Formats: sequence, structure tokens, C-alpha cells
Amino acid sequence: MLRTNFILILLLLGSLLSLNAQKYEGIAKTPPMGWNSWNRFGCNINEQIIREMADAMVASGMKDAGYIYINIDDCWQGGRDSLGFLYPDPKRFPSGMKALADYVHSKGLKIGIYSDAGWKTCGGYPGSRGYEFQDALQFAEWGIDYLKYDWCNTDNLVAEEAYKTMARALMAAGRPIVFSICEWGNNKPWLWGAKYGHLWRTTGDIIDCWDCEKGHGSWVSNGIMRILDMQMDKDLNLRQYAGPGHWNDPDMMEVGNRLSVNESRAHFSLWCMLAAPLIAGNDLRNMSKEIRDILINKEMISINQDTLGVQCFRWFDYGDYEIYAKPLSGGELAVCFLNRGNTPINISFDWKDSENIYDGKYIYEFDKVTYKLRDVWAHKDVGNTARPFIATIPARDVIVLRLTK
Ligand code: GLA
Repeated sequence: MLRTNFILILLLLGSLLSLNAQKYEGIAKTPPMGWNSWNRFGCNINEQIIREMADAMVASGMKDAGYIYINIDDCWQGGRDSLGFLYPDPKRFPSGMKALADYVHSKGLKIGIYSDAGWKTCGGYPGSRGYEFQDALQFAEWGIDYLKYDWCNTDNLVAEEAYKTMARALMAAGRPIVFSICEWGNNKPWLWGAKYGHLWRTTGDIIDCWDCEKGHGSWVSNGIMRILDMQMDKDLNLRQYAGPGHWNDPDMMEVGNRLSVNESRAHFSLWCMLAAPLIAGNDLRNMSKEIRDILINKEMISINQDTLGVQCFRWFDYGDYEIYAKPLSGGELAVCFLNRGNTPINISFDWKDSENIYDGKYIYEFDKVTYKLRDVWAHKDVGNTARPFIATIPARDVIVLRLTK
């Protein structure tokens, strides 16, 4: 009798917990890592490309470096059947989504898909509005592990409610799915996104240039430096909202697209410092060795994946020369020296003489403590903070140091 009561109580507690839970906890405790089709392929996707990208993720060493999600972006949809179920474009995905998911899973990877809170996606394909529970069930049945949920054609929908609805649908579908909120920061998702999702776009779309913007009629996409500056908005102070299970998303990476190697290294380093999701957006099948080495630099990745989950701040701003700092677990610190400009910059950084860091819980007192320095791109120990750090940062590049007591 006692035992039955105990089991009944457990069941009741369990169902109450799952009713109350608004998202899957325990996934995305560090920023998600993977690949997405949009930045490089746009709408020109098919199952062959997705399979080959999964193969390349393994062959390139990216899987070993921690990348796990293969994410299909917009334009995969064929339509809805007579019962309202979404199906993929039969020409581009003739084997169907379940078979594709099985293939990706067979490589030890996970698969992501894309939908939209409105009645149509940004590419004009069927959106999930009014079909949220049905679509979530369908995604779960296919074996989807990650959903990017966009914000086009949403008319007067209230963003928080729309994302909450899809979050509930994902919970009801019963498969742990990373929920990526993509409403471009329009409705301050950092204030409510952590309740329903694991990451939220803070800004509009990225484009593969260092410091340009591109107009698209009613909206603008932004190069790396512009996106970076938006993350640093002093009034918003976005970094306070990031942490294990809930991340600011400055958009998927352009590393290896139309950027130089130096620009790609700087972009990658900054996204690591920002505790941003590391979602590659290049063609993994034919990247150069330099680009591959950037994407799989484990010393840099471990700064991104640090369990503390603290986003960097801009420590010093000297115009083209900026310094970013990111507290790490175990009292360590990552410091990124950025040269935004077009000519090399010689730096001499005197730790003993510079401001100590008092970052809420995290304190770094350079006048009292000497830290060892590790250059994470040169893979070399480079002295300690007792002496000034002297170096040259190439144009549009970075030097990143890891400080250890
Ligand atoms: C929006 C998103 C992009 C991409 C496209 C697809 O612009 O912000 O990341 O998903 O839609 O149409």
C-alpha cells in the first residue's frame, strides 16, 4: 500500500514537473556547436548536401572538436498534406526527413531543422502558425534535435507568446529539442527567451564582410564588426542574460566564406569570447587547411565552451585596438586583443599597471596576482603578467591569451 502510494506520488510529481517545465533543461549547457546551411547555400539545399556536410563534419575533425548539430535552414519545405502535416520538397529531399535524420544520427551527430512563427517562412514556405503542436510532433517523429524558429510574416503576433506556444508544443512532443529563437532582437528576447528557449538572436542577419552593411529593401544585414558592436551596446548590457542553457546568439558564423583568413580568425575568436553558439556557415567539404584549423582550434573552443558560461566584455577601447575579457572557470581569464584596422598594430600591454577586473563575482587583481600567459593561436606559453605583453596584431586579426594562476 505504502509502495503504491509512493509510486503514485512520484508519478504525480513527475507530471506536475513536466507540465511546469517550459523547455528541456540540461541541453545546451554550453553554447551549441554545429553547422547550418543558410550562410553558404541559402535556398540551394538538398539531402545530398546535408549528408555530405555530415560526412565532412566527421572527416574534417570538427566532430572531434565538439561540433554536433547539422542544421537545415529555410527552403526545405514542400508543403502540407491533406491532414496538415509538413513534408519536405520531394525533389530536393526525395528520401524524406526521417531517412536524413537517421543518416546524420548514424554519424554520431544531431540534426536541426527550421520553421517560422508566422504563416510563411522568410523564404515564403509554409510557416508553423496554427500548426505548432502538429509541427512539433512531426519534427519529434522525424528525430529532429534542434529547431530554429524564425519571425517572418508574423503580422501582429506577440513574440513572447508565439515562442511560448512553440516551446509548449516541443515539450508536448516529448523529444528534447534545442529551441533557437530567431526574432532578431526585435522584442528584447533576452528578457524572456531563457524561459522558453536555449538561444536567441540578439540582432539581424550577418553577412560575410568585415565592416559593411547590405540593404535588402526593408532590412539590413551586417558585417562582423557591426554585429560585434551591437552585442556591446552599453545600455542593453546583453552579457548579463547569457549563461548555461540560455545564450545570446549574434548569428551563425561566416568563417571561411568571403572573409580573409585573418578576418575569419578574428570573427571566430570573438564569437568564442561572446559565448556565442558556434554554428559554422561555410562549405565544410572543401575548406582550406587554414580555415579548418581555425574552426577546430580546441584551445579557442574551450574558451567558448567554458562551463562558467560567462560572456566577454569590452575591457578597453582604443579605437581600432580593442581588448575583450572573458572570465573562465577556476579563476582563469581569456583576453582577446583585436585590431579592427587595416594596418598592423604594435601593442605593449602592462598588466600591473592596468585596471583590475571586478566583474560581479569574478575578480582579477593584476596588481596582486601574477598569471601565466598562453597564446591560444600560437599554441605557446608566452610568459606572465609580471611584465608587459609586447606583440604585433596583424590587420583585422586578434591575439588571444588564456591567463592561469
Ligand atoms: C531570416 C533569418 C536567417 C535565415 C533566413 C531564411 O533572415 O534571420 O538566419 O534563416 O531568414 O529565410
